[in-house]
Amino acid sequence: MSFFEYRNGEMHAEGVTLAAIAAQVGTPFYCYSAGALRAGWREFADGIKGMKAPHKVGVCYAMKANSNLAVIRVFAEMGAGADIVSVGEMRRALAAGIPASRIIYSGVGKKASELMEALQAKVGQINVESTAELETLNAVAGQLGVRADITIRVNPDVDAGTHAKITTGRKENKFGIDIDLAREAFALAGRLPNLKVVGVAMHIGSQLTSLEPYRAAIVRVRELIGQLRADGHRIDRFDIGGGLGIVYADEKPPSIAEFMAVVARETAGLGCELTFEPGRRLVGESGVLVSEVILVKPGAAKTFVIVDAAMNDLIRPTLYEAWHDILPVREARQDAATIRCDIVGPICESGDFLAQNRDLPPLAAGDLVMIRSAGAYGAVMASSYNTRPLAPEVMVDGTRFAVIRPRPTIDEMLRAERFPPWMEPVKA
Ligand code: LLP
Repeated sequence: MSFFEYRNGEMHAEGVTLAAIAAQVGTPFYCYSAGALRAGWREFADGIKGMKAPHKVGVCYAMKANSNLAVIRVFAEMGAGADIVSVGEMRRALAAGIPASRIIYSGVGKKASELMEALQAKVGQINVESTAELETLNAVAGQLGVRADITIRVNPDVDAGTHAKITTGRKENKFGIDIDLAREAFALAGRLPNLKVVGVAMHIGSQLTSLEPYRAAIVRVRELIGQLRADGHRIDRFDIGGGLGIVYADEKPPSIAEFMAVVARETAGLGCELTFEPGRRLVGESGVLVSEVILVKPGAAKTFVIVDAAMNDLIRPTLYEAWHDILPVREARQDAATIRCDIVGPICESGDFLAQNRDLPPLAAGDLVMIRSAGAYGAVMASSYNTRPLAPEVMVDGTRFAVIRPRPTIDEMLRAERFPPWMEPVKA
């Protein structure tokens, strides 16, 4: 079942028309399908059940992809843990009902104060990415009189075959500890009295559409685990990270079952509990961005369709040259001619586009368009550049919908700022 589809010529999110939401909430807005979120989670849960070897497995939603409280809550209700990268995300995970014991704290630059808060909240696992962080965490844990459960994230030097800005497992990337230096790091961790090493972690990149990089990385880490055990370390957990790709255009990402089959095969006999940190795969296709056409500007070279969503709302097209499908909310006639156009926002930058050189049915001022696969790294990466209020977020569940983050008013935006006390007050 598709959670976003035309019915009677109108694009629906489950049982609600996007036009009805637009009429009530205004545009632009993000819309998430709770049914799609749950289906995404179930695909993971079923994939794990289908694993041949008896593996103990945990799934921690990488909430950086979409950290709206209501979205996290959907996964919390289904038993998810969370992968967090800041204390802010930790607070969100806890507020949405994820138990602290199921939280993994990742990130390349955690501050002592953040590590302190995480330990005080009793998060289940901290993925350490440098020897400096080992020392800091050991000191903080000592101050609190606790022992921190850690993994060390290693950098296996494998090319994930994805966009350069979201590749994380190459030697030249800042992430993890170089696999060639990992044994020294584990030796240090073993000497630090307030750390308890529970395993190894990796995360090689995002939007992977091939399983081969996972296989190659697992093989390298598996070898390392053997050496670490020979060195006398207990390695009970293997955190495989996230990164599975979704469909934006015509990608053919592997199914979760296929992914799990490779993981099960390559980790067979390792005796490790496995953890996964999927982000995009759980939310990406479950969300869309809806925008209204402000005007159409025919040019000598091409036509510009200027819409009321912009790069501040969805930065992926200009940041990663990412493709997002764009569809009219009212279905075009089958025989409608198309026009070649750029779909752009109102921001004063040429990088402000949602799509370039697309063939779309003719659009006119007031028409609504839907930008597909915007549930991951959409709203979370938005800014209020040009004093454009953050687009609201809406959740649909069956025939119900609710605003799960309202659009701030301009007054609220201005009230967040201050004049320094030495400035003359503005005369009314
Ligand atoms: N675990 C770690 C340690 C990560 O750094 C990430 C993502 C994930 C899990 C989740 O990866 P996913 O399953 O979502 O691929 N803003 C970019 C994506 C950045 C991903 C950063 N790390 C984009 O819009 O494509």
